[in-house]
Amino acid sequence: MKIAIGCDHAGPALKAEILAHLDEKGIEYTDFGIQEGEKVDYPEKAEEVCRKIADGSYDMGILICGTGVGMSMCANKVKGIRAACCSDYFSAKYTRAHNDANVLCIGARVLGAGLAAELVDVFIETPFEGGRHQRRIDKITDIENRN
Ligand code: RB5
Repeated sequence: MKIAIGCDHAGPALKAEILAHLDEKGIEYTDFGIQEGEKVDYPEKAEEVCRKIADGSYDMGILICGTGVGMSMCANKVKGIRAACCSDYFSAKYTRAHNDANVLCIGARVLGAGLAAELVDVFIETPFEGGRHQRRIDKITDIENRN
């Protein structure tokens, strides 16, 4: 399991907490920045990180901005990305189980580090259920290919 993680200027502090959490759990990741004191517009970081997931270099991504919403909008423009902006445990679990989400977007101005770490854990640990859900994922891909 290799995670690609990135944020805009709203996210470095929460990103640091999540990286410490991933270190504790021994989960491999690459930090695509940015760091405290730097600035980037979230569309640039979302595209950079999501391209690395879409091309198979990483299994999953974590993107952090102020709300998580801007990152999720941009991430979902990249073919092959299914990004979910989550601020509750149930959504983070079922977007993996049913939507086979491959990017978790988190709002640094929405959540504290404790809940963010719980969402990261459940997102990483929950397998896609497949079965009838695969048919729906295929329909997402159809939309992507038609538009
Ligand atoms: C940046 O100030 C903020 O707009 C951004 O982090 C994010 O919340 C957008 O969705």
